[in-house]
Amino acid sequence: MPALTSVSPASQKIVHVVGARPNFMKTAPLVHEMNARGGALRQVLIHTGQHYDDNMSDIFFRSLGLRAPDVDLGVGSGSHAEQAARVMMAIEPVLIEHEPDWVVVVGDVNSTLASALTAAKLGMRVAHVEAGLRSFDRTMPEEHNRVLTDHVADLLLTPSRDAGANLRNEGIPEERVRFVGNVMIDSLVRLLPQAVESWPRLRAELNLSDGQPYALVTLHRPANVDGPDTLSGILDALIEISRRMPVIFPVHPRTRQSVRTLETDGRVKLPSGLRLMQPQGYLEFLAMERHAAVVITDSGGIQEETTYLGVPCVTVRPNTERPMTVTHGTNRLVAADPQAIVAGVDDALGRDRRPAGPPELWDGRAAGRIVDALLGVEAGLAAQMAT
Ligand code: UD1
Ligand code: UDP
Repeated sequence: MPALTSVSPASQKIVHVVGARPNFMKTAPLVHEMNARGGALRQVLIHTGQHYDDNMSDIFFRSLGLRAPDVDLGVGSGSHAEQAARVMMAIEPVLIEHEPDWVVVVGDVNSTLASALTAAKLGMRVAHVEAGLRSFDRTMPEEHNRVLTDHVADLLLTPSRDAGANLRNEGIPEERVRFVGNVMIDSLVRLLPQAVESWPRLRAELNLSDGQPYALVTLHRPANVDGPDTLSGILDALIEISRRMPVIFPVHPRTRQSVRTLETDGRVKLPSGLRLMQPQGYLEFLAMERHAAVVITDSGGIQEETTYLGVPCVTVRPNTERPMTVTHGTNRLVAADPQAIVAGVDDALGRDRRPAGPPELWDGRAAGRIVDALLGVEAGLAAQMAT
């Protein structure tokens, strides 16, 4: 680890970096936990602006109780290189100005890698939350982000034991790794009661009767939605499923454009049972997930949330960096073709929906362990300096 600039765990300055939708529910528990520990921990919240629509960003600050970011880098959309480069250029002076003791990054998006790399090159200590996940699929943009972020980070905070094993296999020293559990589940545990309370109103808005089964869908992986042939095959499956039950589909902005093009070209005609809508807020989406008969997705986080909730999940991907959702949870992987998706849904609906209990340390208290780990490293270093 780089040399210490400040030795007292009592006066730590923490920079958190968020950028895209799945970051907000991971960082919020950390901000709340550090707030609860009092003024000794000073926090700076940086939003890269990778996601910027109200329903991809601001809405999460409101529902997760996060204060507005202290700094918004406003990088927006672009190619991978453009987006990462813009984050690096914009965040560097902010990090220099704040001189943090720790830069805390979460997940596997471009903002995660770009900010971790910039901080590491400035000699600042980086903590990576959700370290060690591997799909072993280098065609997936996130896989580069995961591997590279882990290898520049000083403290790697893992959500599951398989993640720790992946890091060991890559030769990362054990003393940098802490198994802390799944911090995204902290947000779920905290806000599920509120989400469930809002369900009767939301159900009425969705025109669903009490107990009526429905499928909930999200799709945004480039491999599924950027190519018209693959996407039209997936939509054919959803149309087939919509003949049996309503299909509720909050559409990610990446996917929205591709669906529109298919409609305009006359390649798909969406029936009324397939209900496309704007991306949903966190509470609304949680309520929809909790009550769904089945979730069809390619999201990373939703594989985990359905595992915790015990809701059957059909993941349209050839692999997952979250294997525990399949071995322990309610998830199954299916190919992106209509027959495989429909068969996956049939299989999922035929199974018992109760999970085997949440995975180890997916207990709503991961943020506490993460802050303990940050302060523990700090205290250890301070002790070393004193001797
Ligand atoms: C990004 C992450 C992905 C994560 C996903 C979560 C990378 C490489 N990808 O994918 O890992 O699973 O977020 O949702 O970091 N757009 C808008 N409004 C927005 C944001 C995006 O319209 O607020 C549109 C733009 O056309 C943009 C496209 O969506 O080009 C893709 O956005 P981008 O952040 O590049 O990738 P995602 O597909 O969202
Ligand atoms: N989510 C949401 N509204 C939606 C779709 C997803 O609030 O319309 C939440 C979901 O509950 C989970 C997170 O967004 O907490 C997952 O983010 P996403 O699927 O965008 O990214 P990934 O996890 O695949 O990186």
